[in-house]
Amino acid sequence: MSNNETTGEVTEAQIAVHWQEEEYFYPSTEFIAQANMTDKGIFDRFSLDNIPECYKEYADLLTWDKYWEKTLDTSDAPCWKWFVGGKINVSYNCIDRHLAQYKNKAAFIYVPEPEQEPHQPITYQELYVRVNEMAALLRDFAGVKTGDRVTIHMPMVPELPITMLACARLGAIHSVVFGGFSGRACGERIGDSGSKILVTMDAYYRSGKLLEHKDKADEAVKVADEEGVTVEKVLVWQRYPGKSSSKTPMQEGRDFFVNDVLKQYWGQRVEPVQMPAEAPLFLMYTSGTTGRPKGCQHSTGGYLAYVAGTSKYVQDIHPEDVYWCMADIGWITGHSYIVYGPLALAATSIIFEGVPTYPDAGRAWRIAQQLDVNIFHTAPTTVRMLRKAGPDEPPKYDYHFKHMTTVGEPIEPAVWRWYYEVVGKGEAAIVDTWWQTENGGFLCSTIPALHGMKPGSAGPAVPGIHPIIYDEDGNEVPAGSNKAGNICIQNPWPGAFQTIWGDRDRYVRQYYERYCKDPNSKDWRAWPYLTGDAAMQAPDGYYRILGRIDDVINVAGHRLGTKEIESACLLVQEVAEASVVPMADEIRGRVPVIFVSLKPGFSPSEEIQKKVVLSVEDTIGKIARPAAVYIVHDMPKTRSGKIMRRVLAAITNRVDVGDITTLANPEVVEEVKKMVQS
Ligand code: WTA
Repeated sequence: MSNNETTGEVTEAQIAVHWQEEEYFYPSTEFIAQANMTDKGIFDRFSLDNIPECYKEYADLLTWDKYWEKTLDTSDAPCWKWFVGGKINVSYNCIDRHLAQYKNKAAFIYVPEPEQEPHQPITYQELYVRVNEMAALLRDFAGVKTGDRVTIHMPMVPELPITMLACARLGAIHSVVFGGFSGRACGERIGDSGSKILVTMDAYYRSGKLLEHKDKADEAVKVADEEGVTVEKVLVWQRYPGKSSSKTPMQEGRDFFVNDVLKQYWGQRVEPVQMPAEAPLFLMYTSGTTGRPKGCQHSTGGYLAYVAGTSKYVQDIHPEDVYWCMADIGWITGHSYIVYGPLALAATSIIFEGVPTYPDAGRAWRIAQQLDVNIFHTAPTTVRMLRKAGPDEPPKYDYHFKHMTTVGEPIEPAVWRWYYEVVGKGEAAIVDTWWQTENGGFLCSTIPALHGMKPGSAGPAVPGIHPIIYDEDGNEVPAGSNKAGNICIQNPWPGAFQTIWGDRDRYVRQYYERYCKDPNSKDWRAWPYLTGDAAMQAPDGYYRILGRIDDVINVAGHRLGTKEIESACLLVQEVAEASVVPMADEIRGRVPVIFVSLKPGFSPSEEIQKKVVLSVEDTIGKIARPAAVYIVHDMPKTRSGKIMRRVLAAITNRVDVGDITTLANPEVVEEVKKMVQS
């Protein structure tokens, strides 16, 4: 996009895959016959004119302790408050209210990675008991009060949602940090959120190995301490209760095994705290344009209403479905579409500990057959991985999906077709759902029984979401013109985050300032929400998402900030400057490639390259591991000294570097080219 070109930044949108428009595919009559949403009238009911009152329809899917008085309060624009005056408890809505009808039905089915370990169904009754006991422990042993933050750094095990729901029962704000993140990353998030309690686990399985996890807690506590936050208690779940799976010692007086302490809380029940609808439910940290990750603050009533509504109509979840979302609960997809949305609808949701290609490429399909999964949800990067590892595996297994979701990045039409024909056996409706951590739930997707599917396009906006595409100068790009621009959402919706934890200014600046029509206005119509993605809309109203316009790289569907990676590189003593660019990758979509230059007196060595990789892994986690680290003697720079990442990205992706005559050191370009492309 031109704005970034002038500053020398590179964006994903610049290396976007531009595939052809595709034909439609249509869902089967069987699917339509059973679908939750078959009424096209929903789009009229959720028209722009009917914002905000239309969202009553979603809020009415929930059980309120006290009904709200005002649907949308805009007095603190652009911090929107939904369902004001309402009182509600999320754990009550996800558990207690289902007991009368479904207490003996599985809420979760846990699938451990080792195949010799049996699947563990957890009924709604059992979930009720375990969440209550954990809530009692958090309140009476750990001193957690309504409004306190609790950081949870755990792998994919049922104790993770049990801890989340226990927090929700107390009205405490959970902040789940993806288990694959490093101890340092966790510690920084503890520091930012001010959590005094860290909940973790000793170990977990991944690719056949029982990985140590408790050591990360020690690192996290140390880092939090440097940030001025003292963690009082570290609560450690055991992967095998009663057995130690970690070599890291427990620190007396600080670290406690949850399963030991829980014995004191046997049989305890905790009254769900009636929370104001607009109280925060959780924080989810994500990468943004500058500096450190930001804590997206999500609400209680609005969030739950939105994920319940979209789970019902877009995911088409019924209580009798067996639903498997392969995301990690440590990301927003897992929060909204493994835990809160499905449970609000009394669904059965699968939690899988491991990687879907271990021990072989048939694993995922064996699970699908055994549990008779009929709704499947994953990311393009996983689809590409499964296709590469076992293109002919799915037909060997007897499972039948009625519905499949893709999320997290654009999906190439060829990959979409394999997903549809081979994984879905031509029987499943597919939804390509576009949204972000900040949004709580889906923004664009087809409604599966109402729209045709078009490979490579996310689809139209979902009910109650009204996108608009602006160009760099703030002019509206005509709807349906297939012209790229910055996609914004014109209206507030209840799933949207409320602010950035502790940084309202950054929230306003980053998401609302750019296209704001009047900064003093209390009318939501003056405040289009900037998504940070480039997109184009076809004449049929379907959107194609082209990628990020800011300094975020979408690696295998996970958001990483280039600035975060660069700061990790600069921790290496020899490194003077660092620059990270996205490189297109066949399986992972995008991967980071790092360029560094060294301080005077140091010469390039493999050792320095290794140090850079280690520093990135240690600071952020293995997901940020670069595909390559190049040590260059100088970076291409503008005359004002700014690193031209656009040029580095063009070289890395073997596309035209464009105009380099304005560089202060154009000769560097050839040198870097030789290094990267030879
Ligand atoms: C990208 C994940 C194309 C997009 C839920 C967005 C997508 C970022 C899609 C958010 C999709 C997500 N098609 N691109 N269906 N879904 N994205 O916060 O660039 O981890 O801004 O939320 O992923 O990533 P996040």
